[in-house]
Parts: sequence; structure tokens; C-alpha cells
Amino acid sequence: MHRSKIIGTGHYVPDRVITNSDLEEMMDTTDEWIVERTGVHERRWFEAGKDTVSNMGTRAAKRALDNAEIQASEVDFIIFATLSPEYYFPGCGVLVQDQLNLDTIGALDIRNQCSGFIYGLSVADQFIKTGMYKTILVIGSEIQSNIMDKSSDGRAMAVIFGDGAGAVVLRATEEEGTGILSTHMHSQGKYAAELTVKEPSTLHKDQILKRLIDGAEADIYPYMNGKFIFKQAVERFSEVIHEALDENEYQPSDLDMLIPHQANLRISQFTQRALGLTDDKVWNNIQKYGNTTGASIPIALDEAHRAGKINDGDLVCLASFGSGLTWASALIRW
Ligand code: COA
Repeated sequence: MHRSKIIGTGHYVPDRVITNSDLEEMMDTTDEWIVERTGVHERRWFEAGKDTVSNMGTRAAKRALDNAEIQASEVDFIIFATLSPEYYFPGCGVLVQDQLNLDTIGALDIRNQCSGFIYGLSVADQFIKTGMYKTILVIGSEIQSNIMDKSSDGRAMAVIFGDGAGAVVLRATEEEGTGILSTHMHSQGKYAAELTVKEPSTLHKDQILKRLIDGAEADIYPYMNGKFIFKQAVERFSEVIHEALDENEYQPSDLDMLIPHQANLRISQFTQRALGLTDDKVWNNIQKYGNTTGASIPIALDEAHRAGKINDGDLVCLASFGSGLTWASALIRW
């Protein structure tokens, strides 16, 4: 059976840096509160007229293709993970197909929020294992600064989230014991309302139109039950990482690098302690980018890879938790 291997990584973040002191000007918050509770010092916000979710994804994908030293024309399929697509429909994958001037290959969008990238990687891995495709682009891209309430009412969320994109090129290999070893995906829809953007939606369309006509506000901003999400996250991260290690008969001490979804620095640190990992074995960049949801893992993976912290033969674990609820992991022999 074929195996799938990440042969290239890339990322793109908008040039516009928004520091915590910039946020202090917009809402009732402080640098001290943000750093202590979330670990974030700055984040990137998109530039209107320059950045879109799909073109950021395309830029990250081009960098991943360059890194893999292959031509875009070699891509057989595109998987695009985002919670912030530019259109209600169609998805962003088809826009990337066009922006990369590719043949009429298939393009699939994934809506699994912070776990979207690992879900996408898992789908790609199955396509490669069955022999259906040989080379797949998996992309995560988000513009969240545009959907946040940037007044003091939205401060608990607006300070955490940021914009950015990351991508990997996955390719079939016959090499034994290398590439993606296993992927693990979970969901728990009973907690859907704990981290959500409710509108616009098919469910509430008539009410939204009426509220707009009446001059009232629609329920368009994200809602997060922060404390509940925090507790769930610390539990699920450790659980799903252990699931991946157990399946492959490894211990946490066998890991060379853990790339956790950049939800909140305190969550990553809690997970690191629970697994007994040293600082050099966990990649965190939430300090610079905030939580970029579906893009956070491929951005972090690309940074760690280019920094020479992930090398051939290394055991790498990706892990995520987010809205859905969804959580997932992937264990990779690089
Ligand atoms: N600046 C200043 N004060 C803020 C604030 C901000 N940006 N956001 C909230 N506060 C205030 C609250 O109003 C509250 O004030 P009060 O005590 O006077 O009522 C106080 O800070 C504590 O708020 P609380 O929501 O209880 O804080 P917390 O310790 O739970 O931290 C989060 C809030 C969001 C940082 C935290 O819950 C968290 O990280 N949750 C998980 C988030 C996450 O990872 N989401 C992504 C999942 S993928």
C-alpha cells in the first residue's frame, strides 16, 4: 500500500501587525491581561484589497510547492480548510484551483474549524493510500479579524484570534515506516453552541432580514464559552495525542516535535507538562500570530520545518481542538 509523506510546507501571513497596545486603543483591555491569559503579543490582520482567504491560501500553497521543489501542475487534488470562506458558496478550494492555473482537478472544502487542517490531512492521506491521487495540496487559511466584534463587548475573543494561511504538499511514497503513520478524528456536536458564529445562516435568514430592516443587529459575532472551552481543550489535547502514540506503540518521550494547534499558550503549556515534554519539543508561535484556527498548525509546521527543528526520521505529532467540538491528531515519521 502507498503511504503519504509531507514533501513541502509553506505559510503566508498578512503584513499588517496588530499589537496588544493597538488593541488597547480599540477596546477596554491591557497588554498585561492578554499576555497573561493567552500568551499573545501581536497578531496579523488582513489588508482589504490585498488579502483574501483564498489568495492567502494560494500564496502559502506556492511556498509549499517551492519547498517541495515540484510544479503546481503536478497537484492532483486540493483540500482547503477554513471557517472564514470568502463566499457562502462556492468554497475556497475551487478559487485556489483557478489562482494556481491548474487543470480542472477536484477541490474539497473542509469545515472543521481549528481541527480542519488535520481532518483535511487525514482525508488526503486516505486518497493517497488507496492510490486515487499521488500529490495533494492541503491548505488552511483564515481571515478572522473581519468577523470579530472589536468593541469591548467582543474583547475576550478579539484579542486571541488572527489571520494567516499555511499549506503542505502531500505525496505518495513507497518508503516503509515514513510519512503519516495514523490520524485520529473526533467530534461532539452537543457542545456546538459553546464556540460558534450563528448568523448568517439558513436557520435564521428570515429573522436576519427582518432585523436588518428594523435596524436591529444580527447575531453575527462569534461566541465562546471561554472557561468551558479551556477545560475541554486541555483534556482532549492530551487524550488525542496519547491515542496517536498508543496506536503506534510509542511513548511521549519518543516524540521529537509536538505541533499543537495554537489555541492559547496556557493550553499548550498544560499539554506539554501533561506529556512531560521539554520546551525544545513543542512549537509555539501564538505569541506572534494569535490563534489562526484552521491555519495555525500548517503555519507552525512550516516555521518549525524551516527553522531546522523537524528533520528526516523525526517523530512529529500534530494535535488540535476547537469548535464543533472537534479534536484530532496526526502522527508522522518525517
Ligand atoms: N481584556 C481585559 N479583560 C478581559 C478581557 C480582555 N480582552 N476579556 C475578558 N476580560 C475580563 C472579563 O470581563 C472578566 O472580568 P470580570 O471578572 O470583571 O467579570 C475577567 O476578565 C475574567 O474573564 P474570564 O472570561 O473569566 O477569563 P478567563 O480567565 O476564562 O480567560 C479566555 C478568558 C478566553 C482567555 C480563556 O477562557 C480561554 O483561553 N479559553 C479558551 C479559549 C480558546 O482556547 N479558544 C480557542 C479554542 S480553539
